[in-house]
Amino acid sequence: MSRTIIISNRLPVKISRTAEGELSFRPSEGGLATGLGSIYKEGDNLWIGWPGIHFQDEEEESFVKKELLKENMLPVDLTTEEIKLYYEGFSNETLWPTFHYFNQYALYKKSYWQSYERVNQKFCDAVLAVANPDDTIWVHDYQLLLLPDLIRDKLPHVSIGFFLHIPFPSFEVFRLLPWRRQLLDGVLGADLIGFHTYDDMRHFLSAVSRICFLSNHHGQITKDGRIVEIDAFPMGIDYDKYARSSAAPETLSREVKYRTSLGEVKLMLSIDRLDYSKGIAARLQIFDLFLEKYPQYQGKVSLLMVVVPSRDSVDKYKDLKEEVDLLVGRVNGKYGSVNWTPIHYFYRSFPLEDLSAFYRIADVALVTPMRDGMNLVCKEFVASKLDQKGVLILSEMAGASKELSEAIIVNPNDKHQVRDAIKKALEMSEDEQVKHMEIMQATLKKFNIHHWVELFMQRLDEVNQKQLKMNTK
Ligand code: G6P
Repeated sequence: MSRTIIISNRLPVKISRTAEGELSFRPSEGGLATGLGSIYKEGDNLWIGWPGIHFQDEEEESFVKKELLKENMLPVDLTTEEIKLYYEGFSNETLWPTFHYFNQYALYKKSYWQSYERVNQKFCDAVLAVANPDDTIWVHDYQLLLLPDLIRDKLPHVSIGFFLHIPFPSFEVFRLLPWRRQLLDGVLGADLIGFHTYDDMRHFLSAVSRICFLSNHHGQITKDGRIVEIDAFPMGIDYDKYARSSAAPETLSREVKYRTSLGEVKLMLSIDRLDYSKGIAARLQIFDLFLEKYPQYQGKVSLLMVVVPSRDSVDKYKDLKEEVDLLVGRVNGKYGSVNWTPIHYFYRSFPLEDLSAFYRIADVALVTPMRDGMNLVCKEFVASKLDQKGVLILSEMAGASKELSEAIIVNPNDKHQVRDAIKKALEMSEDEQVKHMEIMQATLKKFNIHHWVELFMQRLDEVNQKQLKMNTK
């Protein structure tokens, strides 16, 4: 029987060890998990990925496997060394900085690359142990760039889709990677390759042409007699989930609680994983510039900044944590008073009810990444604004800026521009806020996560039909 197999570095579940040593399983609230939920939970479909913890012994491994299989998930165990070299190393100290144009942060280490190759092979073995030639396989993200071709080698006619959730850099940046050719050959094992934006797709095609000497015709490449299609599929959110959560009684009661504690100030919101690509430090400097240039806002506006811990064993992330702590302290020390805190800073994650309450009370969302594949926070903010009041300030370096042109679009490197955008946002009339929000909501409602999944799967099917026709000619 044919089925769909999804593969990503992380499984859509968070497993952690409690203080008593017990394992706790929590379903992930991530957009991808929600969107693909309708697929992998059905019938014999399967999601293969790393459960996020290292098994203590065989007994624990077989227990976790059994539990996950009930939910159609298959774990790939990573050793401590693989976590260090493949996950923290090649994925997050080589590919992540390069693909986000922070190539000065990138480490080019042979041991990282070798581990990346081995772990991609490990994922491939896990797939081959369960896959049939008529299955549909969907591989996700930069941690698994070699996987499509590894699978293709063993199952030459199987249908493979690949989606990159982060930006694809321009050729001049991509070429810096010593393993550029192998990485491209790896992805080109797929039948359909998807990106968030047209620019990412263009950069990829240019790298393929300059490095692999393969030209494209309207996004179609022929490689070893196989058709490979490349296109942009901007990912959406589960719009109804955020709209529903925004109206839920639990959210409303938390909103009242937070509003009361915050007092009569305007509120700006920023929510990110701790990552240098998100522009968190620059945002704090901009808020400082804003309070300095427009002192009439001192005591009148606060920034609620949520930073979700991430990849904290990687040096650059540790450094950034120090920098953010320092900047928050500096701004609060410089402007704060007994009855006003300029920045409310939280270094942890929050449940959906709290996030929805934050989205509701925020007058302005400040989403200013230096580089971001898509950015879903800005979409969640828009979906949560049931009264359509609120302003989005959005970096032009986020994929989402291509869809949300009704936001105040800024260049995050232009600190004075963002500083003045904050003033503009705080002073925007309600009529104007509603006008922009209405348009953004209509877009996001239509191009939601379910639409994205359907579109990609349908297109993959079309490519396979085309291939079949070509083979029988
Ligand atoms: C980004 C990546 C995902 C990754 C997530 C969290 O959104 O595109 O592939 O899973 O960050 O990062 P982590 O390293 O914790 O998996």
